[in-house]
Amino acid sequence: MELPKIHSITKKILVALVGAFLLIFLLFHATANLFVLRHDGGAWYSAFCHFMGTNWIVKVFEIILLGVLALHVLLTLWLQVTNRLAGVSSADNRFFKRRYHEAQKSKTDSTSKLMMWTGIVIFAFLVMHFCQFYFVKLGWVKGEYMVKVEKLQDPEMMQLVQYSAQMQMSPEEILAEMEQQAAEYGESDESTRYIASLRDKLGVMDIVQRAQQEGNFSEDMQWIRHLTYDERQTLRRVMPESDPEPDFYYMVRELFHNPLMVLLYLITFVALFMHMRHAFPSAFQTLGLNNYKYSRAIEICGIVYAWLICLMFVAVPILVYLGL
Ligand code: HEM
Repeated sequence: MELPKIHSITKKILVALVGAFLLIFLLFHATANLFVLRHDGGAWYSAFCHFMGTNWIVKVFEIILLGVLALHVLLTLWLQVTNRLAGVSSADNRFFKRRYHEAQKSKTDSTSKLMMWTGIVIFAFLVMHFCQFYFVKLGWVKGEYMVKVEKLQDPEMMQLVQYSAQMQMSPEEILAEMEQQAAEYGESDESTRYIASLRDKLGVMDIVQRAQQEGNFSEDMQWIRHLTYDERQTLRRVMPESDPEPDFYYMVRELFHNPLMVLLYLITFVALFMHMRHAFPSAFQTLGLNNYKYSRAIEICGIVYAWLICLMFVAVPILVYLGL
């Protein structure tokens, strides 16, 4: 198989650069996750996710991040394949291989095998993780949603509620009467559309009522929680400005009540730790930012960085599972 020719050092430098970017992202992500541990009904975490979901700079960053992630996977696979092909062709040179490179090679091989396997675990995790969260945000997978109460206070709906209270009739009865009159007097398309839009808004009122009856409000009474996917679609259609958002606070907390999920996440964090522990000094080495004077210090920084990020990640599933 003929692969496009890019010098192996160029590929390594690219892998190191994208790896460094991902290391910084992980610190950011792990720090933001700690907001889930606040018992504030999700006020901080939801505000953070709202910012992440609406700010256009973040959206551009997200596209870059996903591109970088894909590039990282492709480049590392490519490096593996080209290294293997190169290994086969140099296998003839037995004397050279045995004498000097044997010890060096077995060390490099075991590290690159470790990187490959931990990379596969992280990749498998990301597929699951995206199905649990990110794809919900994109609307590809169903999740739990919330919407700000004030965004549902539509003046026409309020008028209908007030009028029905005055008339001592239910809003449905008022609408039925309006429809009957429209049919009798052969009213215009406009009034038929108006009545239809009121009927849609009545559907929204049902959603609000259900949320109220089930007590699905956060402490600050700002959010209606636990909308179903269909309810969210109704809200989007009838009142697009309310644009219900995924309730990631609730979803994360729900997820970590499941011991299997806690275990899967913990396994990933172990793989992530091993991956990062090697990636950190290796990125420095490739980018030429390492020399014999600092190599020990960089190695230690790598270990501390990997511990820091993994402990921050680990805290969320464990503490949520323990109900803390
Ligand atoms: C306790 C552990 C974790 C929790 C609770 C968590 C939670 C979340 C949530 C709620 C989102 C969607 C947020 C949004 O898009 O606004 C998300 C997105 C994402 N997560 Fe995680 N995550 C965890 C660990 C990880 C790990 C270990 C990785 C990488 C190895 C990772 C990579 C990503 C990526 C790439 C995205 C999509 C980009 C983004 O939306 O920022 N997550 N995570």
